[in-house]
Amino acid sequence: MSASPDTKAANQMWGGRFAEGPDAIMTAINASIGFDKRLYAQDIAGSRAHAAMLAAQGILSNKDAEAIGEGLLTVLSEIEGGNFPFRVELEDIHMNVEARLKEIIGEPAGRLHTARSRNDQVAVDFRLWVRAQCDAAIDGLTALMAAFVRQAEAGADWVMPGFTHLQTAQPVTWGHHMLAYVEMFARDRSRFEDARRRMNECPLGAAALAGTSFPIDRHATAAALGFDRPTANSLDSVSDRDFALEFLSASSICAMHLSRFAEELVIWSSAQFRFVRLSDRWTTGSSIMPQKKNPDAAELLRAKLGRILGATVALFTIMKGLPLTYSKDMQEDKEQVFDAADSLMLGLAAMTGMVGDMNANRPVLAQAAASGFSTATDLADWLVRELGLPFRDAHHVTGTLVAMAEGKGCDLPDLSLSDMQSVHAGIRADVFDVLGVENSVRSRRSYGGTAPDQVRAQVARWKGLLGLS
Ligand code: ARG
Repeated sequence: MSASPDTKAANQMWGGRFAEGPDAIMTAINASIGFDKRLYAQDIAGSRAHAAMLAAQGILSNKDAEAIGEGLLTVLSEIEGGNFPFRVELEDIHMNVEARLKEIIGEPAGRLHTARSRNDQVAVDFRLWVRAQCDAAIDGLTALMAAFVRQAEAGADWVMPGFTHLQTAQPVTWGHHMLAYVEMFARDRSRFEDARRRMNECPLGAAALAGTSFPIDRHATAAALGFDRPTANSLDSVSDRDFALEFLSASSICAMHLSRFAEELVIWSSAQFRFVRLSDRWTTGSSIMPQKKNPDAAELLRAKLGRILGATVALFTIMKGLPLTYSKDMQEDKEQVFDAADSLMLGLAAMTGMVGDMNANRPVLAQAAASGFSTATDLADWLVRELGLPFRDAHHVTGTLVAMAEGKGCDLPDLSLSDMQSVHAGIRADVFDVLGVENSVRSRRSYGGTAPDQVRAQVARWKGLLGLS
């Protein structure tokens, strides 16, 4: 975008009191058209609703409103066709659209800005854009949850090690692990739904900050743009960016969840773990080491939170301490939100693809589940249940047996009954039943536990909620 010669002239939109045009560097720092052109569809929708309302209220003639409405559609098709002459000296999307409208329809274009300001205009445009991104995030999360539910359904009873501190803790089921992420992404989805509900109020008609003396109908424009109601305070309407902050906050939590599963994929797909095989579609090779299959998509997903949280911190910092109402600082909101939204949508789509393609390595998972004394808690529970030991004593007996097994270089089920009885004389042969991982997971039937029955019940619940067959 090059500055055209009339950069030197006073601005045609607000230049009445200006004798000179802005410095070229002023134009560069002031202009937002380079990025806010992404709001073109919302800007045109807002202007069309505004013009129609002005005519319905008798503020604008029907003839002018029609010319404006039609002209705006021409502008829309020019932008969508890629042949719209964006001009940096016109600062932003709002003035670019209006100036072009004037070239197309002439004088009536100048009447569109009656009872409006760029302050309420940008507030409504940006809200519409962020609202659409909430919808996109909700859809993306729904698809991702479905992919995890499919994995859980296939592997409701596949055993794997469960970890705390990344140390083997207790055997769990693959399905249970997958459903843990369904819970996380369901909370994320509800955060976007909640934010969307709260942001769905229309600031249009707040005008510059104080409202307007024209008899506008804010309920009509709110309804035309799909809002639940108009905002109730004109000062708040033009100075509020909570909707963007809530979107960024929800995006940050969601990206944090994505990064956690991404990290698990990086670990699980390594040669040392081999818990999963990632498909060729989501990995890359190395230009020097022919054996490599790198989990690049997972690594990038792990990193995305850095960007998204960075945008969140940036916007909080931009908004902090701003006096009411609008300040130009707020123009810095858009690039942060655009970048975060792009990263999030790409991340959700990539994760959905990876989860769909992911292959669990069942034999390796089963072997890992049985190692690392993973059923030590089952042994302690058995001592409590069958021999009436206090749990603390059972814990101690079990710890002694683990040390014994470790000394012999074997796992708990490999100890003989007499080994066990040398630590506690009351131990019987049926203890071996609880030392098997299959029995271990099957026994954890408490609500929300890892038992395959519980997992199947949760899979059924989620399939119902997600409308999956
Ligand atoms: N480009 C501006 C923004 O993004 C639009 C609002 C300008 N308002 C003003 N009073 N200068 O914030």
